[in-house]
Amino acid sequence: MKKLGILLSGRGSNFEAIARNVQAGKIPAEIGVVISNKEEAAGLATARQMGLKAICIPSKGKEREAFERELVAALREREVDLVCLAGFMRVLTPYFIREFRGRILNIHPALLPSFPGVEVQKQALDYGVKWTGCTVHFVDEGVDTGPIVCQAAVPVLDDDTPEALAARILKEEHRIYTEAVCLIVEDKIRIEGRRVLLKK
Ligand code: GAR
Repeated sequence: MKKLGILLSGRGSNFEAIARNVQAGKIPAEIGVVISNKEEAAGLATARQMGLKAICIPSKGKEREAFERELVAALREREVDLVCLAGFMRVLTPYFIREFRGRILNIHPALLPSFPGVEVQKQALDYGVKWTGCTVHFVDEGVDTGPIVCQAAVPVLDDDTPEALAARILKEEHRIYTEAVCLIVEDKIRIEGRRVLLKK
């Protein structure tokens, strides 16, 4: 059974959606470890309540690579196959990417390549797009640039606030993150250039 390592920094609703689907047998994998760079992250408490191995590796005051060496050691110790970033608010260095090349997923609350970065739902509203959504992608050395595994579109409504829009996008995030993890742990995809395609 493939092992997932979840990295988060906050609320952890994407982690929780994945964990519930693992528990329900909808994702054929197990969660090896949940790691937060912040002790106060709600997601860490949820993981502990669910009986999962959940640890804090503080990033504050550490050099980026020193922090990441600790992350890599913890993930390796738990023999993690696939790293899932779930609201992990740190950009990873090429060192980390190299260690888990092609085995790191991220969820982003926009239809990439539109609106990378932060305050994404506000960016979409300010720009005036009529549709936005969310993207699960592999992580490479860039910010929100890796090959795209799954996307879902969400309409922008005239009376949307960033919060209302974020809440509607989040529902789709929970759905497509599980879909993407399943495609990978079930070995159903291949990558050609930037394109993630279903194996024949
Ligand atoms: C989610 O909306 C996720 O897409 C976003 O942070 C939120 C975390 O929520 N991630 C990013 O913006 C990464 N650039 P969660 O902690 O409830 O899963």
